Formats: sequence, structure tokens, C-alpha cells
Amino acid sequence: MAERVDLTDLDMWARGVPYEEFARLRGRTPVTWSDEAGSSPGFWLVLRYDDIVTASRDVRTFSSSRGISFEDPTDEDMAARRTIIDTDPPGHTKLRKILSGSFTQRAVAVYQDFVEVLTEQVLDAGLTSEPFDFVDAVAKEVPIRVLARIMGLPAGDLPLFIDLGDRLIANTDPDVTDVVWGRDDTDAYRRFPFRSPYGKQLWDLGRAIIAGRLAAPGGDLLSALLRAEVDGERLSETDLDNFFSIMVVAGNETTRIAIAQGILAFCEHPEQWDRLRADPGDQGRLDLLDTATEEVLRWTCPTRFMRRTATTDTELGGARIRAGDKVVLWYVSGNRDEAEFGDPETFDVGRSPNRHLSFGRGGPHLCLGAHLARLEVRVVLAALARRVARFELAAPPRRIRSNFTNGLRQLPIRIRPA
Ligand code: HEM
Repeated sequence: MAERVDLTDLDMWARGVPYEEFARLRGRTPVTWSDEAGSSPGFWLVLRYDDIVTASRDVRTFSSSRGISFEDPTDEDMAARRTIIDTDPPGHTKLRKILSGSFTQRAVAVYQDFVEVLTEQVLDAGLTSEPFDFVDAVAKEVPIRVLARIMGLPAGDLPLFIDLGDRLIANTDPDVTDVVWGRDDTDAYRRFPFRSPYGKQLWDLGRAIIAGRLAAPGGDLLSALLRAEVDGERLSETDLDNFFSIMVVAGNETTRIAIAQGILAFCEHPEQWDRLRADPGDQGRLDLLDTATEEVLRWTCPTRFMRRTATTDTELGGARIRAGDKVVLWYVSGNRDEAEFGDPETFDVGRSPNRHLSFGRGGPHLCLGAHLARLEVRVVLAALARRVARFELAAPPRRIRSNFTNGLRQLPIRIRPA
């Protein structure tokens, strides 16, 4: 049998996603054990679409309460930094209720005009006739400004939010952060988000903004959090810290990745860009815009996995899992599962149906911001389709050194205008 690829080898991920290895494992050992370096206990890989959905649904057996990454935090660590994403029902249901009304399809449709105007401004400033970095000029700009509008974040702080968010989500990349998880001693930071001093900095920034909002509440999301009650009590300072950090991290980088990796896909598959741009309907609307958006999300899979922890001995995909085991749901593999998707290794902007896993599926943690993210990707694609006939790589993209985020640090491209 061929040597197994080590999915904890982050330098490998910096070179690309091991899709062939995932396909091989899905065919042979779809739920399989992997050791980890040092004293870490190892984890199960869950690679098939159906098994991922099954585990996502069964939150009693597959808990989020030990965190969603490879880390092994203590109870005290978790108590300090637990967010909605690592809270199980019934507590999760109560937290989710606070924000769910603000993120329905109808609620986010209110931002359509705002996102359109913002995107045009970003493209006016960012698209040039010379080669440029698409991440820096476009992909990074849109999501953070949308988030700022929704949460009521001060415009002057946005570069800092971007920088801190990057240092957290890319906490394994020494080119992004100077405190690298897995390389440096991060014990002193274990009670902060992403086990990073920058998590604490983000909390502090949030606290200063929240203090201002207490004095002058408005219609934004932070004000809604300040008004919220769970079981008759206002959210604690710890809850507010953690809501703030998860929103800034989850709502920004992920959407940036979908946009940037999406354009990389169109650089590599120019015929799909031609298909998307062809024949705008009467209203100037692209027929394939919705299916292309979903395919960009499937193909780019910004968050490659979510971890769960087994609460009891159980069986999944033929594997016998023991209580306490880490169980890693590889959405990036499920999104290419041939049992769910016809021709899964083909980037097809007309793909339908397309029940991808990029926002999770079947469980209560399904991405809260999914409709907002879809809106942003759709608007950016439509605006680019009006302006750009062809994307070409000007230099190889630079990927983030991480097995968690599918981020690009740089995407140097040149464009041929429409
Ligand atoms: C393309 C963009 C995005 C992707 C790929 C993405 C992906 C995900 C994934 C995979 C999960 C966990 C699902 C699960 O465990 O079942 C999640 C949860 C979450 N996402 Fe997103 N996300 C995106 C955009 C956003 C945006 C724009 C926001 C907010 C403004 C957001 C806020 C959240 C929150 C708060 C959670 C936790 C939900 C819960 O635990 O109930 N996300 N997201």
C-alpha cells in the first residue's frame, strides 16, 4: 500500500490540497485513524460526504464542545474562549437565536445595494492594467467592509481587524504571525482565541468598541448582542468577547478565500468564465450566476474541516470510534466525493444540484453567515463579469501554511478588460 500523506504536515498544504490522496482514502478507508506528533492523541479522518453529514447531524455523539480545531484545550481553556461554534445544544440553540434573525436570506438581502456600491468602489480602485495582487486589491476589501457595516465597526480600525484576523486564522503560518501554533510555546496564550496573543488583542479592541456602543446603542449587531438576554440574563463579558472574536474571524477571512480562490479557479478554467459571462438575460442578469456561486463555494472550500469529539463509543463509516476521540470532518474531501457529485474534479459553473459542504450541512452549526457570504460572492462575480474578459496568473499564487484554512496570501494576476 502506498505511503499515507500526513495531513498534519503544514508545509505540504502550503503547496496545495492533496485531492488525490483524499480520493484514494475515500475509496479504501473513508473513516481512518491518523497519529499526531508529540503528545497529541491522534484523530479520525472522516472523508465521505454521507459520513460527514451523519456526524454533523448527530450532535449528541459528535460534540463541538472540545473545540473545532486540532488543539487539545483543557476545560478551563474552553471556558475562557468558548464561542457559539464550540457550544452544543441546548446552550447553542439559545445563543444562535440571538443572531439568527439578522442572517436569514431576507434579512441579508437588505445589504444587496450596499454590497453592490461597495464592490464597484473596490473594483474602481483595485483593478489595474498592470499585474496586481487580487487578494490585496479586491478579495480582502469587500468582506471586512460588509462586516463593518453590519456590526458597526469603526472604519479606521479595519486594517487592524484584517491583520488580527489573519494572525488568528493563519496561526500556523510564520509569514503571517510571529507566534506560530505547533512551533512556538503558546502555553501562555491557551485561554485566548486560537491560542494566540492576537486573540487577546482582538478581545481588547472589541471591548473598547462595545464600551462606546453601550453609551450610544444603534441598529447594528453589537447593539443587538448588548440587548440580548439568555434565560433572563444579559450576555457576560466573556460571552461578548467571544461573540465579537468569532464574528470578526468567521465573517471575514472565509469570504475573502471564496472570492480569491474563485478567481484562481477562473484563471485556470477560462472557458468557465466565458460560460458565466455569456448571454446576460433581459435584466442584464447572468443565467449561471447562482450556480457559479455555489460551484465557487464547493470548489474553494474555504474552511477545510471542522473537528468534533466523540461523547461515547460509536461506529461511523465502518470505524469503531471511542469516547473522547477527535473526529475531523474533512469538508474539502466531501466536496469532491464522487458518490455525491458527478465528475467532482471538474469545475463546472452550471453544476446543479450542488449540495456542497462548505458551510457545513445537516447540523445546528450550519454557517450563520451563509446567505451573506453567498450575496458577497455573487455580487463580486457579477461586477467582475461586466468588467473582465479574462483572468490570467501573473505569478504562482502563495498559499497560507495551514491545513484548516484554504487561504491565499497572494494571487498575482493580470486582467484583460471586457
Ligand atoms: C464563504 C464564506 C464562509 C464559509 C465557507 C463559512 C464556513 C463555515 C463553516 C464550515 C461553519 C461551521 C459549520 C458546521 O460546523 O457545521 C461556519 C459557522 C459559522 N459561520 Fe461561517 N462561513 C462563511 C462566512 C461567514 C460569514 C460572512 C459569517 C458572519 C458574518 C459567518 C459566521 C459564522 C458563525 C457565527 C458560525 C458559527 C455558527 C454556529 O455555531 O451556530 N460565516 N461557517
